Amino acid sequence: MSNKEVKSVNYGLEKIFEGAQDFLPLLGTDYVEFYVGNAKQAAHFYKTAFGFQSLAYKGLETGSKDTVSYVLIQDKIRLVLTSPLNSKSPINDHIVKHGDGVKIIALWVDDAKSAYKETTKRGAKSYMEPRIETDEEGEVIKAGIYTYGETVHIFIERKNYHGAFLPGFREWKSDYNPKTIGLKYIDHMVGNVGWGQMNVWVAWYEKVMGFENFLSFDDKQIHTEYSALMSKVMSNGNGRIKFPINEPAKAAKKSQIEEYLDFYEGAGVQHIAVATDDIISTVSQLKANGIEFLPPPPQAYYDDIPNRLGEHRDMMKEDIGELQKLSIMVDADEEGYLLQIFTKPIEDRPTLFFEIIQRMGAKGFGAGNFKALFESIEREQANRGTL
Ligand code: FE2
Repeated sequence: MSNKEVKSVNYGLEKIFEGAQDFLPLLGTDYVEFYVGNAKQAAHFYKTAFGFQSLAYKGLETGSKDTVSYVLIQDKIRLVLTSPLNSKSPINDHIVKHGDGVKIIALWVDDAKSAYKETTKRGAKSYMEPRIETDEEGEVIKAGIYTYGETVHIFIERKNYHGAFLPGFREWKSDYNPKTIGLKYIDHMVGNVGWGQMNVWVAWYEKVMGFENFLSFDDKQIHTEYSALMSKVMSNGNGRIKFPINEPAKAAKKSQIEEYLDFYEGAGVQHIAVATDDIISTVSQLKANGIEFLPPPPQAYYDDIPNRLGEHRDMMKEDIGELQKLSIMVDADEEGYLLQIFTKPIEDRPTLFFEIIQRMGAKGFGAGNFKALFESIEREQANRGTL
């Protein structure tokens, strides 16, 4: 996609946000919970490789007989890693079907009962009716609804709580504290849904959650020689929560979205984009810690960066050679530029991966990088025999 086309899809953010409904005010992402086969080892991985810190724990020692959870933190990002402690827990079914993956995208609200009432009234399927959980640190009100696949949104109201994380957890102090790597907050979380389902879920986020569709990419914009996909970006009223929704599109070979759906065995979270203020430092540390990234775009991609940056060329502080050495990609829109890079899947199944993103004014999602990115993914798919 040329730079000019990229600009044409980045329209009127402020105008759309003004029009967004506010029956569901969201303060931010509260936490992301993964169901995994071995939470203790997964927690070690996210500490060692991604620079997360120990925050809270629940398990046998705290009276939790069926599940164990480790909570990690880095700046505003909280991850919860949960495993079952016996064969009877329904978490087993989730892991058998999907492998390790994201179960809960928890949203921080001021009024969880209202969030539940407003969303279920508009058609959301209930996951958890509002309930109050308390301990000596105060009370939290929680309620939950299903979104795509078996993924869930839990609304968390914590204004009367002062503990480390949530009631039932105790503070987790560890002797092992690897240094943070500069991850700041979750920029966006992307869902993959099945054939013909993108617009269904776009309509669901509009109607049930009051979100707005502020960017759309069709298969004419997102394609390579072999494969294609479609994507629509949904945002809540204040713009803090962004959920792009992808669906595969017909092409000569198998789309990466189809590969995901085959291996996750249904719709689910495809990637979590986390923001940094210094992508060169963050990515250098991730590489040193053993995280693998998609192979770099070709030389011609880097030669074209000044052209791609257009009017923002003089604004860019980073050295292109250094970006190329780390395989970091660059895109620009009318408001600025952004730097981004994608990990390989971080599970055994080719499902969930992470994006590291540094925004320098740009509000887009790197549409100008889609072709180079998907060609990299296709080379990986070819290695897996799934293209
Ligand atoms: Fe992304």
